[in-house]
Amino acid sequence: MDKVKVAILGGSGYTAVELIKILLRHPGAEIVAITSRQDEHIADLHPSLFGRLDLRCELFDPDKLQAMGARVAFGCLPHGTSMESIPLLLDRGIRVIDLSADYRLRDSRVYQEWYKESHHDAANLAHAVYGLPEIYGDRIDSAKLVANPGCYPQTAILGLAPLVANELIELTGIVVDSKSGVSGAGRTPKLTYHYPECNENFAAYAVGTHRHTPEIEQALSDVAGKPVSVVFTPHLVPMDRGIFSTIYATPTQPVTEAGLTDLYRSYYAGKPFVRVRTGFPATKDTTGTNFLDLAVKVVRGGKVVVLAAEDNLIRGASGVAVQNFNRMFGFDERTGLL
Ligand SMILES: NC(=O)c1ccc[n+]([C@@H]2O[C@H](COP(=O)([O-])OP(=O)(O)OC[C@H]3O[C@@H](n4cnc5c(N)ncnc54)[C@H](OP(=O)(O)O)[C@@H]3O)[C@@H](O)[C@H]2O)c1
Repeated sequence: MDKVKVAILGGSGYTAVELIKILLRHPGAEIVAITSRQDEHIADLHPSLFGRLDLRCELFDPDKLQAMGARVAFGCLPHGTSMESIPLLLDRGIRVIDLSADYRLRDSRVYQEWYKESHHDAANLAHAVYGLPEIYGDRIDSAKLVANPGCYPQTAILGLAPLVANELIELTGIVVDSKSGVSGAGRTPKLTYHYPECNENFAAYAVGTHRHTPEIEQALSDVAGKPVSVVFTPHLVPMDRGIFSTIYATPTQPVTEAGLTDLYRSYYAGKPFVRVRTGFPATKDTTGTNFLDLAVKVVRGGKVVVLAAEDNLIRGASGVAVQNFNRMFGFDERTGLL
């Protein structure tokens, strides 16, 4: 079978380099183009790729990508920028897996409210599929445009889905307390992420205003079939990578830890990248992998506490993007990832 020709947009960033490494060991994918505003060999931008991929970055040119036979493009660009390029690819029959937030929120007014800028590709927003395979499975297979999910939202959505699907918790006031390593902010420098600023430091940010809030609520409301609201508080921790979320929910009926663990295991049966554990997940157990580790606890007073850990750059971005690619092009979901 011919390999699927792949283009990557925004090649100098963190998600792009992880994506390239996964695709280089994928038997069904061939990277034919990498775009960047920098006229550099990819190995000069990412020395870890030295000797592994002989490709020079090029400016974004949708006609050229089409002429090269690219069947799919992975967008590793910032939000706002993505929606400038993606319509041009879709018009040329190139399917897209967009890692930015541009196509995740179904309602452009919600996008405008949280991202403080207007959405100007409503036509493609209308058919984009949210690329969380464990929840939206089959819908991804035939999608022309997949909105790859955010890093924090995956921990919250997959951490809570078995509970909201079975109406076992109250659907308002769920607390999602999350911590992320600094690579979550990307490679583009900013003062907050300068080493002396973030090393040996631990702080919350965007309290009550983080843009992943509506994304979490949209997906959980889909699972519940009714509105779900969360209080989401992200923190920056002095690690390179990894996300850990501690989620607090109030049960609507008496529950036991063993019963909920069984429920989680059956909910995620056949989903190779969600591991339901009985101990305490930790970011290091998931580093460099596409696994999202979960554990569910019942504590004094009857509250349910869900623990979720993932690698923000793999499961949170490039790994799940390849999981989506596998579904879209008929490969086993695990190809290149296990
Ligand atoms: N980091 C994470 O953990 C994570 C997780 C999930 C999703 N995401 C999302 O994935 C996307 C990529 O994230 P990242 O962490 O890889 O970011 P990044 O390291 O900052 O890389 C983004 C790349 O986009 C290009 N770029 C920046 N501004 C641009 C502009 N105005 N026009 C064209 N190209 C531009 C840059 O490449 P050139 O300078 O070479 O042109 C840059 O290297 C973002 O939308 C992010 O929100 C990130």
